[in-house]
Amino acid sequence: MAQQTETGTAAPRGAGVTGRRISARIAAVSPSATLAVDAKAKALQAQGESVVGFGAGEPDFPTPATVVAAAEEACRDPRNHHYSPTAGIAELREAIAVKTRRDSGFEVAASQVLVTNGGKQAVANAFAVLCDPGDEVLVPAPYWTTYPESIALAGGVPVVVPTDAAAGFRVTVGQLEAARTPRTKVLLFVSPSNPTGAVYPMGEIEALGRWAEEHGIWVVTDEIYEHLVYGGAEHHSMPVLVPGLADRCIVVNGVAKTYAMTGWRVGWMIGPADVIAAATNLQSHETSNVANVSQRAALTAVSGDLEAVAMMRAAFDRRRLTIHRMLNEIDGIECLLPEGAFYAFPSVTGLYGRELRGRTCASSAELAELAIEEAGVAVVPGEAFGSPGHFRLSYALGDDDLVEGVNRLARLFGGD
Ligand SMILES: Cc1ncc(COP(=O)(O)O)c(C=O)c1O
Repeated sequence: MAQQTETGTAAPRGAGVTGRRISARIAAVSPSATLAVDAKAKALQAQGESVVGFGAGEPDFPTPATVVAAAEEACRDPRNHHYSPTAGIAELREAIAVKTRRDSGFEVAASQVLVTNGGKQAVANAFAVLCDPGDEVLVPAPYWTTYPESIALAGGVPVVVPTDAAAGFRVTVGQLEAARTPRTKVLLFVSPSNPTGAVYPMGEIEALGRWAEEHGIWVVTDEIYEHLVYGGAEHHSMPVLVPGLADRCIVVNGVAKTYAMTGWRVGWMIGPADVIAAATNLQSHETSNVANVSQRAALTAVSGDLEAVAMMRAAFDRRRLTIHRMLNEIDGIECLLPEGAFYAFPSVTGLYGRELRGRTCASSAELAELAIEEAGVAVVPGEAFGSPGHFRLSYALGDDDLVEGVNRLARLFGGD
């Protein structure tokens, strides 16, 4: 059975007035390139291929035993077998407020915390709550691949502000000011950064925050890598450095990266009361409460000490220095020393035009394809982060695998 569409052509039954099976809004969403690379690597491994995966953005360590034990206990407690408040269990919201004061110095009440299904839902909530159609969000590139998609899904317009290695992949007030229009509503800020590992120094964060405050621009600041900083780098929270911003600031965070808990799906957003009320309302219709057992596990994680993350940080720091040195030894690759998170973001444009295993590549996407097909090395091409010409390599993998993987790249790109 066909029906008439707005253009007068016949549409199949169930295709709505536009004739589309999938809405234009959702059809425009790109799949997550980072998850796709990881899936391809795992599929090859399942076929018995030897693959070194630099794709996944997650610690290779298990969740701390105390956290797992808390979850086991929570499973047996009937209180956790039923719906709980959308905004999160009260003890966890309180513990997150206390942890935030402890770790970043940001003074918040438990009522300003909304527990979410990972930091990812906090990002989606933040833009859904802030963006009206056409509102512009400034997104410094290279950016985490989810930001522009969730801005667009919320009806906002991502306005990409490019940065480069010469500037340490850090955006400046001058660049933001040049990109500002009467429709600019939000600045997306992340430090330490995925995918570059850049960490903004205190003075620069303060300057960016002051600029946003002066122009009445909201800031969504993603602090999920707050504890993963190396060398002399320090994490600073923007609303602490610029207290006047607090009424127009949303902090995104979660347990995934700090406690090796990516699979547990617990994150949170912190914001002013009206924003948290609106986001809670939204979440109540989308996902209701985060799984209670995961929330109890997160409660143990955030209430405890930072010993586990100190151990992981030491390992990541060691691997960071190794990957930085080894990548720079490859002719055609140039890598800035990452200062935070667990990613290296080298330039690979020096490899363009070189004949490698009978192929000549002209983009980082083609080089990434070559790397997985010819060397069994999974990396995410810079195209996924709005910065072609680069690879993102996560160094959250074992030391031996890391060395093996970069050696394979060196052989491939060296013409072996
Ligand atoms: C910058 C950044 N923010 C947020 C997240 C979301 O993490 P999750 O949803 O696992 O808590 C990630 C995960 O990769 C990330 O890299």
